[in-house]
Amino acid sequence: MPGTFITFEGIDGSGKSTQLRLLGNFLRANGCDALLTREPGGTTLGLRLRAALLDAMEEVDPLTELLVFAADRAQHVRRMLRPALAAGRVVISDRYADATVAYQGAGRGFSPELISQIVQLATEGLKPDLTLLFDLSIDESTNRTARRSTGKNAGKVPRDRLDIEHADFHTRVRDAYLQIALREPERVKLIETSGPVECTQERVREIIVPYLQSRGHLAMNYVR
Ligand code: TYD
Repeated sequence: MPGTFITFEGIDGSGKSTQLRLLGNFLRANGCDALLTREPGGTTLGLRLRAALLDAMEEVDPLTELLVFAADRAQHVRRMLRPALAAGRVVISDRYADATVAYQGAGRGFSPELISQIVQLATEGLKPDLTLLFDLSIDESTNRTARRSTGKNAGKVPRDRLDIEHADFHTRVRDAYLQIALREPERVKLIETSGPVECTQERVREIIVPYLQSRGHLAMNYVR
């Protein structure tokens, strides 16, 4: 059975990490041992790169940022993703190369040609089979990320260096993600996330369940 590579993408505050956790529980309960991972920080080296990249006190030059995300990805692809896919596993990553197109390309303004070269170098051509793009308005995203630092969860989830970019940065990132979805409708499925977490999870399963069943990773009579 071939492995299956799925990615979750979206602007900050889109709730994709919560959705990934819920989906992981559901898949495990149904005997599908999916590998859940993330970028940046899927590997032990990546965790150290992540801490440096997202530290709000660190002044990271945009070119350095682009290259460190790429370094994290190269380590992730070679040491974790490829071996797991070769072993036939389902791998779901919280962010992957589309994030570089959106954040470093549209957000920071690096040219599409440079972004595509760096992405190709880091991924060696490994593309997701399926991508879920979690979308919500910039206003709602700003409210959610602000609540992380002032609400009852204040301090538990510190705002990172990219969270605190201005709204126009996040608008460019969101637009770039939406363009990717328009360009590649077969691979990228858009999920609107302004409603309750459970409703969004329903939409996630409506897409993921038949997809994994069709590839032989999930039984036809699964438990909800
Ligand atoms: P993430 O862990 O998804 O943060 P959150 O849970 O707050 O959404 O991602 C961390 C940040 O890294 C996020 O702001 C997006 C950014 N990022 C890039 O700018 N380029 C990349 O290639 C990747 C993978 C992430």
